[in-house]
Amino acid sequence: MDELLALAPAPGGTASQGIVVRSKLAGIGGYLPERVVTNAELAAKVDTSDAWIRERTGIQQRHIAAPHETCAFMATQAARAALADAGADVSEVDAIILATATPDQAFPSTAVRVQAELGAGGFGFDISAACSGFVYALSMADSLIRTGAVRGVLVIGSEVYSRILDWTDRGTCVLFGDGAGAVFLRAGTGDGTGADTGILSTHLHADGRMGDILYVDGAVGRPDRPGHLVMQGREVFRHAVTRLSETVAEALEANNLPQSAIDWLVPHQANLRIIDGIGRKLGLPPERVVVTVDRHANTSAASIPLALSEAWHDGRIRRGQIVLMEALGGGLTWGSALVRM
Ligand code: ACO
Repeated sequence: MDELLALAPAPGGTASQGIVVRSKLAGIGGYLPERVVTNAELAAKVDTSDAWIRERTGIQQRHIAAPHETCAFMATQAARAALADAGADVSEVDAIILATATPDQAFPSTAVRVQAELGAGGFGFDISAACSGFVYALSMADSLIRTGAVRGVLVIGSEVYSRILDWTDRGTCVLFGDGAGAVFLRAGTGDGTGADTGILSTHLHADGRMGDILYVDGAVGRPDRPGHLVMQGREVFRHAVTRLSETVAEALEANNLPQSAIDWLVPHQANLRIIDGIGRKLGLPPERVVVTVDRHANTSAASIPLALSEAWHDGRIRRGQIVLMEALGGGLTWGSALVRM
């Protein structure tokens, strides 16, 4: 392994220039709260219907956290599952990067709470990029690995949106669910081409001028002003379709890959109509697009690793295949990650 640290990082990780360091997806895991809430249950509390929710979003049910299923608890379960899947000992964890918009506390970070639960060393911090959080965290982890700073990184997305929803607002409370997903990245090598396994590229974007179309109106840790999610759904939808199409094209171009090279699209799970639209643009048949929004609803930063975990563990996604992940969320933030498993 020591020779890894002596290697120069690949510029962008895509140029062909001898042996380079690559971040390999060694293990993947997820955790969902036990309690399932159906659309019919919600319709008994707010003025909505199963038909409206299914038709506009594709959502049929969501998992909602019990009091003990905190952001840190769910993240720890997902992290343990990812380490077990990788066959990794906790001593291999050099860093924990955790994406969340719903931490249990303003500080310490949820990442260090997970570190303590796991008994890991190294360092840890949280990332705030709303629904794009996992792609942002994956990108930071990849950069740290490729510079040689670390060799093993847990990248986690964990969310308890049920605690920031206004349960009287039918426009938002039907859309979200709780859960956590994690990947364990291990440093390895490649030849710097698209034939390598591991993370081939990440692209991140933000436009803070759009901050008011999707935000939380309160503060973490303020019981008097807990904060609820506020959203202009139509505006978010419009930007999502445009920005995600751009970022998909950007990832393919950076890797000099045709659309046909993509084996799997693992998108952020906000709305089935957005997911179907991107899949069609890529020319991917629906069976090559991983969908969990029907059962998980939108779990924000946890949605991509949860979807990845499901398709990995049920045998759909296999080693050697190319997976494209993309997300857009509050900020606005958006981005992509292209990975060969
Ligand atoms: N049940 C029944 N009726 C509803 C509900 C509901 N749960 N919510 C809204 N309505 C009503 C509205 O009040 C409105 O009624 P009106 O015509 O009498 O005024 C009508 O349905 C249409 O409302 P719109 O908001 O215009 O409905 P739209 O077709 O845009 O669908 C939705 C709303 C599903 C939120 C859609 O805009 C969307 O998916 N946007 C993307 C937002 C998103 O996914 N956000 C997640 C976070 S960001 C991310 O992850 C990308």
